[in-house]
Amino acid sequence: MKYVSWTICLLGFLLYEGTCVKVKYDGDQVLKVTPQTPQQVQYLQELSVQWRLDLWKPDIVQDICPGGEAHIRVQSVYVQKMKENLVQQHIPFKIMIEDVQKLIDRSRVSLQSTGPISLENYDYTIYHPMNEIYEWMDLIKDKYNDVVTTHLLGHTYEEKPIYYFKMGWPSKESKKVVFLDCGIHAREWIAVAYCQWFIKEILARQQSDRLIKKLLRQVDFYVIPVLNIDGYVYTWTTERLWRKNRSPQNNGTCFGVDLNRNFEARWCTVGADADCESYVFCGPSAASELETKGVVKLFEEVKSNMLMYLSVHNYGKFILLPYGYTTNQSANHNEMVSIKSHVYILTFYTQN
Ligand SMILES: *[C@@H]1O[C@H](CO)[C@@H](O)[C@H](O)[C@H]1NC(C)=O
Ligand SMILES: *[C@@H]1O[C@H](CO)[C@@H](O)[C@H](O)[C@H]1NC(C)=O
Ligand SMILES: [Zn+2]
Repeated sequence: MKYVSWTICLLGFLLYEGTCVKVKYDGDQVLKVTPQTPQQVQYLQELSVQWRLDLWKPDIVQDICPGGEAHIRVQSVYVQKMKENLVQQHIPFKIMIEDVQKLIDRSRVSLQSTGPISLENYDYTIYHPMNEIYEWMDLIKDKYNDVVTTHLLGHTYEEKPIYYFKMGWPSKESKKVVFLDCGIHAREWIAVAYCQWFIKEILARQQSDRLIKKLLRQVDFYVIPVLNIDGYVYTWTTERLWRKNRSPQNNGTCFGVDLNRNFEARWCTVGADADCESYVFCGPSAASELETKGVVKLFEEVKSNMLMYLSVHNYGKFILLPYGYTTNQSANHNEMVSIKSHVYILTFYTQN
């Protein structure tokens, strides 16, 4: 069977010009760990950092708390040792995912159909590779050119164009802005799928749905369907669970900045790491990355009209409110909480 995988490998190499070695997660497990005491929390936090464990929940290692669940992907080489340690420390845990690779193999992905794609049979319930998403963006822009325009946000490190959509009816008066970005974390494929779904829904109902019709007259939606394009491509070619972008660091010995930790908001203080090998590497300086710079520039242009900014992620079923670096409430905390309850209604509404 060896030559078969070599053929696939070679084909992959020719198609993507990328590295041929695809990272596998056979035997990796996701554990649900529930530390009970502050000592157990501290133990788990230290172990997470020391072994570079992949924390899926909570969002940052500092948020692990007594009685709270931590969902942690443990590499196969550490699984046995990890469980022994947890037993020894009397920290309760359960296996959530027996074999991460098996689950990955079950995801529904587009099989890179040979022909050109069309909007009529674009499947919004499967994952699409970047080249198909680029094609899809073109089709959307052409079909709905009266209400949608696409714009260049900037380029990625690997010189791929990052586009954003602006959806809304032209108006003489200045309009409020609702801003969405998806795919800032490369591996969060369903966030990327969500942005496509969102755009499709808004456009398909722009006439038939009274609320959406009204919204498009009052508000401009700015949507970045895939922000971290280099990382997204890399999750398709090489490493499914890659999170960061792909810019080289330390003279090309290490790759990738966590774009979500690269903004100038108490940069690199809480929930981030100054070490490039980390999942949450904040970069050499605030807004060091092209992708971040692009967002900041556009944000500066529209911020006086900004009504809401949503960064769409997946895992954990959270709505996270700013600011992540403090437990203090923001000045408009109560307003955000009241909007948060409407988000559920809106989600429900678009499902029906
Ligand atoms: C990169 O290489 C140069 C020249 O070899 C060296 O002076 C510099 O310290 C290196 N930088 C890092 C971050 O390793
Ligand atoms: C949180 O609020 C306290 C009391 O107002 C203040 O002293 C502290 O600096 C605030 N922390 C942050 C991170 O803003
Ligand atoms: Zn994320």
